[in-house]
Amino acid sequence: MKFDIAVLPGDGVGPEVVAEGLRVLEAAGKRFGHVFDFHHGLIGGVAIDEYGVALNQETIDMCRKCDAILLGAVGGPKWDDPRAKVRPEDGLLGIRKAFDLFANLRPVKVLPMLVDSTCLKPDTVRGVDLVVVRELTGGLYFGRPKRQWRTTRGRRAVDTMAYADWEVERIAKVGFEVARGRRKKLISVDKANVLETSRLWRQVVAELAPQYPDVAVENMLVDSCAMRLIQKPSDLDVLVTENTFGDILTDEASMLAGSMGMLPSASLAGIPSNGAKAFGMYEPIHGSAPRRAGMNMANPIATILSTAMMLRYSLGLADGASAIEAAVLAALDEGYRTYDIMSEGKTKVSTNEMGQLIARKLEQ
Ligand code: IPM
Ligand code: MG
Repeated sequence: MKFDIAVLPGDGVGPEVVAEGLRVLEAAGKRFGHVFDFHHGLIGGVAIDEYGVALNQETIDMCRKCDAILLGAVGGPKWDDPRAKVRPEDGLLGIRKAFDLFANLRPVKVLPMLVDSTCLKPDTVRGVDLVVVRELTGGLYFGRPKRQWRTTRGRRAVDTMAYADWEVERIAKVGFEVARGRRKKLISVDKANVLETSRLWRQVVAELAPQYPDVAVENMLVDSCAMRLIQKPSDLDVLVTENTFGDILTDEASMLAGSMGMLPSASLAGIPSNGAKAFGMYEPIHGSAPRRAGMNMANPIATILSTAMMLRYSLGLADGASAIEAAVLAALDEGYRTYDIMSEGKTKVSTNEMGQLIARKLEQ
């Protein structure tokens, strides 16, 4: 089969890790008899430099013609002025909204050979295998009003946290479906003791629960969840939560895995159930790491694992996805490590070398 993939490398280390993602996709294509056509576009700071905006309509139209999007990272000190009218992050928020990518899946799996590379005790992180399902197109990020203004008593600013029942319903369904495919335990994370949006969230989740009698649901307050993530993370399986809570909890959760360079993500426009395909954007959860840019150092595994998620959720190629994941494990098993997960006795490799090793495993 032939697939069209939109490729938006973005800023910093984005282009370097994306190049390795493409290398691995090509290798998977060769092995399974698929052809991937890559269509490149600009997003983030590089798009601001070229077009004056972080995401333009042509890039959106180009992505619309594709089966999925692979994104690197956006942002960097060059575009960081808080008074700037355009910000690289606008590109990311813009593309999430343009394609209604409301369902963000962020799996955190601690691989047995990396238990020692985290800052937590190995016994705490051993066996951790959880997924955060984050709502991605609502809440504080997009609610209106959102502005800053001057009053006679100084400056004021407002952001708005708003959710409609249907927005909660569709993301909660994703949570239930993902839980159904795993340990059948769903934790819905909110702040229902304080926030009205959280009270709506809880009601909607409770209303849906009877449709998923095989899934046990538990409500957890976000502050307590933050604590549980550090205290006993291996108990957690699927967490579903709103946009801002999900943003914060996933950075926290990423530390369980030792390095953000290991963690992939999918942002989907539909509900993944029974292998049904959904349009999606795939990206590593790490940022553009400007200080490492151009040094051929960054860990490409998060991006490579994101391409596996792409095969699984948007292209319906579950075998290819599993093969990529197995190739990553094989390269790590042989002791190859990028700088971020390096430990004594292992072989340190560059971005390119790690990509080549994983691609070669796929071709074997
Ligand atoms: C993420 C990032 C983004 C977010 C930023 C870059 C806008 O932190 O994907 O988690 O807050 O969603
Ligand atoms: Mg974040």
